Amino acid sequence: MPDWLEKAVFYEIYPQTYYDSNGDGIGDLPGIIQKLDYLQRLGVDAVWLNPCFASPFGDAGYDVSDFYQIAPRYGTNDDMKRLLAEASKRGIRILLDLVPGHTSTEHPWFQASRRREHNDYSDRYIWTDSVWTWNAPGVQMVIGAAERNANYVTNFFHFQPALNYGFAHPDPNHPWQQPVDAPGPQAARRELKNIMKFWLDMGASGFRVDMAGSLVKNDPNGEETSRLWRDVRAWLDKDYPEARLVSEWSQPQVAIPAGFHMDFLLPFASQGYQSLFRKSSGRGQARYGWSFFDRSGHGNIREFLDEYMPLLQATSGKGFIAIPSGNHDTTPRLGDGRDARDLALAFIFLLTVPGVPFIYYGDEIGMRSPDRLPSKEGGYDRTPARTPMQWDGGANAGFSSAPADRLYLPVDSAADRPNVAAQQEDNASVLNCVRRLIALRRAHPALGASGAFEPIYAEAGKVPFVYRRRLGDETIFVALNPAGQPCQVMLGEEILKQAPEVLYGERDSFARTGDAGWTLSLPGVSGGIYLVRD
Ligand code: NOJ
Ligand code: CA
Repeated sequence: MPDWLEKAVFYEIYPQTYYDSNGDGIGDLPGIIQKLDYLQRLGVDAVWLNPCFASPFGDAGYDVSDFYQIAPRYGTNDDMKRLLAEASKRGIRILLDLVPGHTSTEHPWFQASRRREHNDYSDRYIWTDSVWTWNAPGVQMVIGAAERNANYVTNFFHFQPALNYGFAHPDPNHPWQQPVDAPGPQAARRELKNIMKFWLDMGASGFRVDMAGSLVKNDPNGEETSRLWRDVRAWLDKDYPEARLVSEWSQPQVAIPAGFHMDFLLPFASQGYQSLFRKSSGRGQARYGWSFFDRSGHGNIREFLDEYMPLLQATSGKGFIAIPSGNHDTTPRLGDGRDARDLALAFIFLLTVPGVPFIYYGDEIGMRSPDRLPSKEGGYDRTPARTPMQWDGGANAGFSSAPADRLYLPVDSAADRPNVAAQQEDNASVLNCVRRLIALRRAHPALGASGAFEPIYAEAGKVPFVYRRRLGDETIFVALNPAGQPCQVMLGEEILKQAPEVLYGERDSFARTGDAGWTLSLPGVSGGIYLVRD
């Protein structure tokens, strides 16, 4: 049986701002349950839910204070159980967000660990030998913040102490650095599996793993961290063979061999990913250069392909690269500077490349990231990508019945902000394009996660970008012209024998040109998906 990831399309939900069911201004699990029918109609078959566990929310829930408890503002563990069951009824699987690398300083483990007297949790985190040891290569620490005469290593913000999975190469000058097989690191590892087991037993289908490459310290090639994950994977394969893991690592050539089923390409590590949508605004305003998906036509698809093709090759047959439309850390949103035509084109690409696509909530209607928002829950410049989902044209865009000033974040105030209700009615809306593209991906095996991917026309600084997907005896062409100007390219007889069937998008694009082959002509900002019959 083929892997369920083969046809999967994921959808990321930031629970704070998806749907508020009880009018307190913040999204919640019963709210997500109410929107499952929407997700089913959209056609997604899996959801990644950002952390929804007990937390002081200094970093939007990535600072967990109890891994076994749903945060009261989202509901209860029973609500989670209900969400998992209701999703499953609709054929939707849910991946929870696992934060293995750190906790909140408010976590009881840390509260015990910071105490002067030695106890069961003293070695659960990484502490120096005294408060006067305040730096060491490769780690960051918080100085003089505990009753214990020691400093603790952090993973991210100051209130996110790193759990102790040991050091790959403990520094002999720093004897407080423990090897991975020391009792503290081994206990942390056991607890990690307990946490996973708890939610898998409740019905979760796996996890998105936060900072997956961060666990073992001073591990430059990720070898020990990879060994740890391979151990987790072996256990999963045995006890939870359907469960899937996607890593926030952004090094698929490392993460996939380490046991992850999927790894994201993300802006912090992938220039290639960044070059697709976020170097410029989409409307010809250069920020850091030009995006390929930009009307200026100045982008360069090679920036993506030269990075991507070797990664695809290195992971082929072993796991999948996940290219997200955006996520809760990424501004601007895909929708910034792009209208429905630009977005349709971006989604043709996102939903026809190999691997597993992830759609960030709101991107399916082209939501934008309003600027000048004050930071919320440690969001800083990520905050604009986290505003409430826009459901309809009513108050608070249908997100919540709370007074507007009680919302988690203000709704985008733009007069022309997109919303689901209006787009449902409009056949040419981004929402309906995305829906049709998802259906197409499901219907055509060549478009799935592991079909072959071959660039056919992909020249530096030029349009169009044409590629071929293949699986078994099915062959599909995708052609994309993000530029505002029309373009033409010749495809030889060896590439195409007869005019292909239009599955999606631009018609009449292929014209026979003597014996030489075919001319592919695309108007500005257009593209299509074509089934080859030979
Ligand atoms: C990555 C998460 O996506 C981000 O939101 C969070 O702040 C850091 N990891 C720390 O957990
Ligand atoms: Ca609520």
